[in-house]
Amino acid sequence: MSQSRIFSGIQPSGELHLGNYLGAVKNWVTLQRQHESFFCIVDYHAITLPYEPEDLRRRTREMAVSLLAAGVDPSACTLFVQSAVPEHTELAWIFNTVTPLGELERQTQFKEKSARQESILAGILNYPVLQAADILLYKADLVPVGEDQVQHLELSREIARRWNARFDPGYRAAVEARSAATQGGDADTAEHTGFFPEPKPLLTPTRRIMGLDGRTKMSKSLGNTIGLLEESKDIWDKLRPAMTDPARVRRTDPGTPEVCNIYHLHKAFSPPPTVEHVAVQCSTAGWGCIDCKKVLLESIDRELVPIRARARELRADQTTVQRTLADGAVRAREVASATMVETKNLMGLS
Ligand code: AMP
Ligand code: TRP
Repeated sequence: MSQSRIFSGIQPSGELHLGNYLGAVKNWVTLQRQHESFFCIVDYHAITLPYEPEDLRRRTREMAVSLLAAGVDPSACTLFVQSAVPEHTELAWIFNTVTPLGELERQTQFKEKSARQESILAGILNYPVLQAADILLYKADLVPVGEDQVQHLELSREIARRWNARFDPGYRAAVEARSAATQGGDADTAEHTGFFPEPKPLLTPTRRIMGLDGRTKMSKSLGNTIGLLEESKDIWDKLRPAMTDPARVRRTDPGTPEVCNIYHLHKAFSPPPTVEHVAVQCSTAGWGCIDCKKVLLESIDRELVPIRARARELRADQTTVQRTLADGAVRAREVASATMVETKNLMGLS
């Protein structure tokens, strides 16, 4: 077990899709054995867009089932729902007071989401402040996420730096000593990490999975996903018409694997010899795209059939799922409340 602590979050969008499975969650399953890990279903983030209460409750339950089925193991990590740990919103308020408005307005996801809304809620703007609170409440230094979250993490680091510079006397002293040493030509002063460490992203090799259209990232809101728990025949109905190399018009045209989304999915799911074989068959027009997709479906099924089976068992046993989340919230709160006591003390709050 390493010294680093891991935190990651996922929105309760219902079912996991292959994008967030390959970009993040599959990594969680490996990392939970190597680091102390906290994984959170972030329902407070989900309510920044229009939603129905009953639907949110169902999606949160389904997300817990998907994560547990995918291999998130409550005996190796802490899995919980964000709104069960009130310290997340408490610290988010505090961080709002050290975050410049301009930094929030510059976030790409804010610009994209607000462009799609008629009236823009303050919650969408402050979304990354809550995300910083999620991570820093546990003083996590590593955050396994997909590429789309890298900018949010830069902001989390900025918030940690600003808070430390304002309220952590040890950090301030270290910064001053460093700048004095640099001026004196001796820059060899030890780093002081600060009360809140600056968290770094941990990306997977499949940091950005494209949707079935092959053009935009796989995302629930774009309707171009394959669900982790979808049945094989439903996956096939989506794979068959999915975009491949656009230059491959006729069956006899040779293709370029690197530009084909199906090839990238092979890299994520097929064993290396199959991936090599696929590349040769594609670039020599030995296989048509349908042949290639059939082999992909076999590889996907090999990995996902056991996950689907576990999900069926968990759905039939909601009591266990709810107990797991409740136990996770208790464990998370122990760490979160200790951080809040220290934070408030340093800030002169009661
Ligand atoms: P979300 O479903 O937006 O809460 O995302 C959960 C996690 O999955 C985050 O770490 C995202 O970065 C990651 N993720 C979402 N979509 C994709 C994608 N198409 N490719 C890679 N990672 C993704
Ligand atoms: N914003 C993240 C997403 O949409 C979800 C999230 C919320 C998160 N809090 C987090 C991810 C903390 C990592 C760490 O994917």
